[in-house]
Amino acid sequence: MEVDVKLSVEQGDIASVGGPAVAVNLYEGVTAPGGATKAVDEATGGIIARALESGDFKGRLEEVMVLYPAAKGKGVPERVIVLGLGSKDAFDTEAARRVGGLLVNTLRKLKVERAATVVHGGGSGKPARELARGLAEGVLLGAYRYDDWFRDGRAEPLSLKQLTILDRTKGSLKGIEAGVAHGTMVAGGANQARELANGPGNVCTPSHLAETARKLGRKYGFKVKVLERAECEKMGMGAFMGVARGAKEPPKFIIMEYEGKNPKSTVCLVGKGITFDSGGISLKPGADMELMKFDMGGAAAVIGAMRFAAESKVPLKVVGLVASTNNLPDGDAYKPGDVLTSMAGVTIEVKNTDAEGRLVLSDALAYAERYEPDAVVDLATLTGACVIALGSHAAGLMGNDEWLLDEVHRASTSAGERAWPLPLWSEYREMVKSDVADIKNTAGREAGAITAGAFLGAFTNAYRWAHLDIAGVAWNPPPKPYMTVGGTGAGVRILAELLTNWRKPKGTGPAPGPRTSLRSLPKATDGAFKAPAPRTGGAGPRGGAKAVRKKKRG
Ligand code: BES
Ligand code: MN
Ligand code: ZN
Repeated sequence: MEVDVKLSVEQGDIASVGGPAVAVNLYEGVTAPGGATKAVDEATGGIIARALESGDFKGRLEEVMVLYPAAKGKGVPERVIVLGLGSKDAFDTEAARRVGGLLVNTLRKLKVERAATVVHGGGSGKPARELARGLAEGVLLGAYRYDDWFRDGRAEPLSLKQLTILDRTKGSLKGIEAGVAHGTMVAGGANQARELANGPGNVCTPSHLAETARKLGRKYGFKVKVLERAECEKMGMGAFMGVARGAKEPPKFIIMEYEGKNPKSTVCLVGKGITFDSGGISLKPGADMELMKFDMGGAAAVIGAMRFAAESKVPLKVVGLVASTNNLPDGDAYKPGDVLTSMAGVTIEVKNTDAEGRLVLSDALAYAERYEPDAVVDLATLTGACVIALGSHAAGLMGNDEWLLDEVHRASTSAGERAWPLPLWSEYREMVKSDVADIKNTAGREAGAITAGAFLGAFTNAYRWAHLDIAGVAWNPPPKPYMTVGGTGAGVRILAELLTNWRKPKGTGPAPGPRTSLRSLPKATDGAFKAPAPRTGGAGPRGGAKAVRKKKRG
């Protein structure tokens, strides 16, 4: 469910606001509280100092205690929450996020409607803006639950409506406000992605993704165009359409375009939008197959990031591309052994219909060329092999441009969402060559995350490109106070950080290197909103659009 907590920043004294709850903090090992904590302690007859004397509270990160002042009266809160911050030197944005998550979890249990707090970690030397942004992200990410389907009373909607962040000095307010506003937009995008990922396959269909994109486009101000099956076929998206053949649910190719003021660059975001991955004819084992409703986690991240980009008005042109379909077995489904001709003209031998993500992405990556982007980042729950390699602690990061990989890596570090590089050496590219077509969609178990990346690399030679395999990080995060079970919104924070701190790359045009695409694509100079140019003949010996079996669907 959408989070509906209002964060506001005000000048004021936490020791005299009163109300249902105020939250202050302590670093580990501090024996006598200082600052705002000291002020609250004094206003409440020394309950914090008394609790510290007992030795029960150590101030470790993620430690919390709730105290109840004996005195009542104006300015005395009903509850005092003390949050542990851990060591002063180690306190950073991620720690602030964790503290924010812990705070909102505590307020949830207390069922209060409003509370006041301060920016935590002030003494750490980190900028207040960053700390405030971490706090806002932690509170809003931590507030999110997916409880839409409980009818048995288990859904406990958050009673918290209002959290006020107080600071005594007027001069600090601006930075805090900016941080809170930024964190609120980041969390909004991430929670949006979580909501989509959590949606069951019978609800979160390609049409639902398209409708959500449209709704967000109207609300936040970006254009949305959706290509239907017939248009995708006409455009020659043979790889995407191959996967979609077995799906009765209409596939959608979703194009989102946001244009900021005086955009300094064009960045394309590409998402894998498999709303259910059964494996197709190469059927997956039954155990845990229900998890594969989250195989649109990449698409969710792209949609969430588009929301962020438009809401925060980044001075860039940001294009989101989502290729969405179910991957299901059917009498007419694509089969192992089939050869598909992708829109780029590259022919693909299907070795395994369960390696469908790279197929739908290949056409979306080819589509991205028409924007002549400065960079393309794709996100996909692409391989089980990446889950084996990095577990649920980092996304796999691959690409063709050192500068962009560096930027994405840096963004991931400061966003608190880890991504770790995997190599795309030419040996891996060799591995995806096919005996019967240009490339094959699987190269066996060895280096499975990398060969999937190498496959995508055959479609990205016209631009700087980074690939995030989020298979391990998009679902059921490792325990963190600001994350709960289900979809994580993985990738949104990385993208938000990348877009916010965007610097125009050095040099002009795409990264050098020959295109692997075998024919050139029509370039739409006016973006995606021109009717797709019909693919003309002369596709050469490799077939092209004609090789895609046309089929009318009702
Ligand atoms: N969606 C899966 C990858 C996946 C697996 C994501 C587990 C999250 C958790 C993808 O479409 C897939 O099935 N990949 C295959 C590729 C193989 C057939 C080469 C895989 O990883 O097993
Ligand atoms: Mn699959
Ligand atoms: Zn998949």
